[in-house]
Amino acid sequence: MQIGVVGGTGPAGRALASRLAAGGAEVLLGSRSAERGEEIAAELRHKWPDRKLELVGVANETAASAGVVVLATPFEAAAETVLDLAEALSGKVVISMVNALVRVGGELQALLPARGSVAAMLQAALPESAVTAAFQHLPARALAAIDRELRADVLVCADTPDGLAATVAVVEVMPGLRAVHAGSLASAGAVEALAAVLVNVNVSYRSHVAVQLTGLRERGA
Ligand SMILES: NC(=O)c1ccc[n+]([C@@H]2O[C@H](COP(=O)([O-])OP(=O)(O)OC[C@H]3O[C@@H](n4cnc5c(N)ncnc54)[C@H](OP(=O)(O)O)[C@@H]3O)[C@@H](O)[C@H]2O)c1
Repeated sequence: MQIGVVGGTGPAGRALASRLAAGGAEVLLGSRSAERGEEIAAELRHKWPDRKLELVGVANETAASAGVVVLATPFEAAAETVLDLAEALSGKVVISMVNALVRVGGELQALLPARGSVAAMLQAALPESAVTAAFQHLPARALAAIDRELRADVLVCADTPDGLAATVAVVEVMPGLRAVHAGSLASAGAVEALAAVLVNVNVSYRSHVAVQLTGLRERGA
């Protein structure tokens, strides 16, 4: 599976890119600068020489040409970034892992984006794409440690069956992660806002928590 990560040079994007490549995906790690993208991709390949990661650094435009695309920019840049890439993203599933958070003093607080969530805002900006929400709760540091299995649930919000199926398939590239269908994009705001809560837990307990639901009958979405 070929997966593009737009904004892939930050802690979240590079961690996801590493774990996807470790799971066997061909990953295009995107940046506003192709040189910076390749610099980070080379760093990751050298960090895990035995893994033979299929991970290359590219311009965001090239990352957006992948079969499935994950958006990993800061909230402030998300809408503008996808608008610039709208043509390349047309007809594709675009997975937003973006959270709208603001730091107030020592605490992170969730913002309410236009249309109730980042994912819904992006869907409005990309009418020719199927936007989904996932990966909001995976702590970058644990995600990046690909020598350790990360067992966690990934809440997936999707408006279409194709968007859901493609997003679940991306989650399932990474052993230990379980995709859980959490509803349509109407639920994405709550999912994104929970990220602020989890970061505050991490600050309070010096931890790197992820979400695991109890009571689900079997693994799989
Ligand atoms: N950190 C986590 O643990 C975590 C976990 C789950 C979800 N998230 C979410 O994932 C997203 C990325 O998090 P992060 O911590 O990796 O963010 P980040 O480091 O602040 O940004 C990621 C990348 O986005 C690009 N970028 C920055 N400003 C931009 C702009 N104005 N326009 C276009 N591109 C810009 C940069 O890449 P280039 O300069 O190379 O273009 C940067 O390396 C956020 O929305 C965050 O809420 C984070």
